[in-house]
Amino acid sequence: MAKHDLIVVLDFGAQYSMLIARRVRECNVYCEVYPHDIPVEELKKRNVKGVIVSGGPASVYEQDAPKADPKLWTSGIPVLGICYGMQLLAKELGGEVKPGNKREYGKADLLIDDQSNIFAGLDSQLQCWMSHGDTVVGLPAGFKQLAHTDNTKYAAAGDPAKKIYGVQFHPEVVHTPKGIEIIKNFAYIICGCQPTWTTANFIEEQVREIRAKVGKDKVLLALSGGVDSTTVAALIHKAIGDQLVCMFIDQGFMRKNEAKKIDDLFVNRFKVNFLNINAAALFFEKLKGVVDPEQKRKIIGENFIRTFEVEAKKLGQIPWLAQGTLYPDVIESAVPGTTTGKVAKKIKTHHNVGGLPEKMGFKLIEPLRLLFKDEVRVLGRDLGIPDDIVNRQPFPGPGLAIRIIGEVTEERVKILQQVDDIVVSEIKDAGYYRKVWQSFAVLLPIRTVGVMGDKRTYLNTIAIRAVTSLDAMTADWARLPYELLEKISNRIVNETPEVNRVVYDISSKPPSTIEWE
Ligand code: XMP
Repeated sequence: MAKHDLIVVLDFGAQYSMLIARRVRECNVYCEVYPHDIPVEELKKRNVKGVIVSGGPASVYEQDAPKADPKLWTSGIPVLGICYGMQLLAKELGGEVKPGNKREYGKADLLIDDQSNIFAGLDSQLQCWMSHGDTVVGLPAGFKQLAHTDNTKYAAAGDPAKKIYGVQFHPEVVHTPKGIEIIKNFAYIICGCQPTWTTANFIEEQVREIRAKVGKDKVLLALSGGVDSTTVAALIHKAIGDQLVCMFIDQGFMRKNEAKKIDDLFVNRFKVNFLNINAAALFFEKLKGVVDPEQKRKIIGENFIRTFEVEAKKLGQIPWLAQGTLYPDVIESAVPGTTTGKVAKKIKTHHNVGGLPEKMGFKLIEPLRLLFKDEVRVLGRDLGIPDDIVNRQPFPGPGLAIRIIGEVTEERVKILQQVDDIVVSEIKDAGYYRKVWQSFAVLLPIRTVGVMGDKRTYLNTIAIRAVTSLDAMTADWARLPYELLEKISNRIVNETPEVNRVVYDISSKPPSTIEWE
């Protein structure tokens, strides 16, 4: 990667850290998340321009409260502490932190006492978001009060000479509408960073890097049809054209017309070297009589890899395998000298193309490994990928097979494809597709009695699942309007002769999961 100015978030609580890093990158400054106790020498080696000490669940006066390397405070590297980060730096530098009388949570009016430095160019009163129990009650020597609220005297404070600042509120959340300006001020004014982290630069650098890395070699990519692998395909194709070979394995569990749509996009539009392998017969054969969810997943995963191996062999010697690994999966690097190897929790391991390289001796190429999902979407759009793929909801590797409870047969896949198509198009028409995390149908293994015309029916039941979520780790059922649910239900029953009942799933995760299997 070309040299971009680097700001680092020290991770004292993963969910806060990732959001802060994404916000810094929105300011076009490159940002990485590191373990909270990374040694300052490591930061210096990486020529870090600024450090943001994140929020976190701990209290600074707890016995084992997590700390940063004490040398950070005298290193000369500019620091911005947020919430716990502010309390930590205040305590470490000789200030005083106390539990508040009551927890302050929610919107507050921030009154700025010093409209320079981190508050440069901002109004004297801002809305901010507070979420804290502890408070800084005494400032370290050299610090001045920069902002206050009704409840918090030192809502922001800093030592401009040392370039160390702390804010008690959360500038990274949307409820602090001008928070991004504060982060920009820190990055540009205090740290002196240049805003070079742009999609155009990223594409240019990656194209150069991919060319240098692979030379005249061929690269193989297993496409899923989702935004990540499609973006990888477009990017690598831009770099090396026909040296890229894309393989799509149709297991038979895609959405209605999806296999054809993928074919159209890659063959007609992008004109890439594209192999569409129809392996449906094999998968249906292997899944005959299988109802156990884990067994289903295992069979699908194993046969995916086997099919991939067989088809890859036919292509002769291809040394490189491209993958759509993203930054959140990468933030577990064991940085030398830290106590935590793992910073962010990993989302449950799923069947996807991971696991292929170890078995097959490929060298890996992962051009998205520095990006967050929202950055991938912007990149994909800039590379000409259509909106319906760029904004596609997550879709599991085993496809509709894990949304068909009980045996997976061709007939049952057809029913679910038809129903799924109705659900997706109605959700899109109503403007809910991007408001929810996922919305889909599940085919249940029970038939129930109904009445249509004057006739008794005994047909399949469909469950609708729609959830809101930020990262799929937790989720809540979406409060879709009754009118929308009514329309979906009517269309399903009217247009699908095999279905006479529709139910709505009102469970959150935990204790349920998003998918039913
Ligand atoms: P659960 O069901 O565990 O799902 O709440 C969390 C998120 O992961 C997606 N998911 C998968 N993604 N391969 C994938 O690539 C899989 O096997 C798989 N299973 C679940 C799910 O759709 C949700 O977004």
